[in-house]
Amino acid sequence: MKFDRRAFEAKGYLVVPGFIDLHAHLREPGFEDSETIETGRRAALRGGFTTICAMPNTEPAIDSPGLLKELLARGKTVDGARVRYVAAITRGRKGRELADMVELAAAGAIAFSDDGSPVEDSHLFRSALEYARVTGRPVIEHAQDLALSAKGVMHEGSVSARLGLPGMPAAAEESAVARDIALARMTGANLHLTHLSTAGSIELVRRAKADGVPVTCDVTPHHLAMTDEWVAGSRALAWEVEDEALLAVPYDSSTKVNPPLRGRADVRALWAGLVDGTVDAIATDHAPHASVKKDVEFDQAAFGISGLETALALVLGGVGVHWAALGTVIDALTLGPARVLGSDLPRDDWAVIDRDVEWVVRADELASKGKNTPLIGRTLTGRVVATVVDGELRYEGAARVAEAVNGR
Ligand code: DOR
Repeated sequence: MKFDRRAFEAKGYLVVPGFIDLHAHLREPGFEDSETIETGRRAALRGGFTTICAMPNTEPAIDSPGLLKELLARGKTVDGARVRYVAAITRGRKGRELADMVELAAAGAIAFSDDGSPVEDSHLFRSALEYARVTGRPVIEHAQDLALSAKGVMHEGSVSARLGLPGMPAAAEESAVARDIALARMTGANLHLTHLSTAGSIELVRRAKADGVPVTCDVTPHHLAMTDEWVAGSRALAWEVEDEALLAVPYDSSTKVNPPLRGRADVRALWAGLVDGTVDAIATDHAPHASVKKDVEFDQAAFGISGLETALALVLGGVGVHWAALGTVIDALTLGPARVLGSDLPRDDWAVIDRDVEWVVRADELASKGKNTPLIGRTLTGRVVATVVDGELRYEGAARVAEAVNGR
């Protein structure tokens, strides 16, 4: 159906460019019980995302032009968001030898990443950046010193000490960020640091940008909205006061994510980075997992939060308390990620937003197969009510619900 923008605006909805997610996990091939291309694309539309960049930590990894072309062909039907692929940096994401990066770029890879498995060998990472520069594509790096994060399952701090869980110190991220920036400075390649989570990381990027290093970065909605207290059972968003009625049980594995939810000062630093332009984009790190991987003991559970469908409401919460302007977060969901990819905004992609509607996050209403979010049961404010790709209205489910609730 063709999109009639004025009809939506007449109802009081906000129409903004379709969101671009630099970081989503679609799990196909290999983990289709957690997500498929089709369910991920539908979840994206519900979140207002018209383009999503799928990460290559599939089985097999997306490290060959043949597999990449096959996946691109699978994602071309008209009932979901547009999918782009981030190809692996190294064969099998094993960190030992480079994948055929030039051929992968020619086959359609828009960026390179071994996400979840940082490239530990600095010499190899230098070579990856040099090849990436030849292709004109960015390297998206998950910055983590694995020796330092070791067996950590949450942020290392007073909450991990209280819970008796092994922690991942902020320095495990920051030391990797520092190395990566040094290599970007040396090679001149475009380095994109994804899901930064600490105040120290943001400061390192701020200084590198001031020095002219070609580095960009993103932060996730969950790191902007939740602290490590969520692992201990809090369900107060970073800008809310603790509410006894909202207390959940501690050790809920839906709060287990990598990088981990951090402390309050880190959360504020991520917002400050958004406001002063240090942070280029908000990316979901949508990480759906089948319940067998999540409904287990905290230390055994997989890392990840299913995030496409709740992203907008979380960031609007911060806008509501004036931690950033609406225009800043919309830019970080649209123009910012487009620039990271070196592209323009698609001309006829739109997200229609109801800023005021309250809705309850319900597992069975999520289009994603991944029900692993600690927001289940919570009331959020603000929702995408319709999504348009290439001028076609591809999703308008929640518009009708919102009308009923608001009496429009
Ligand atoms: O929480 C995470 N989940 N962090 C990662 O780095 C990988 C991701 C996944 O693939 O589930």
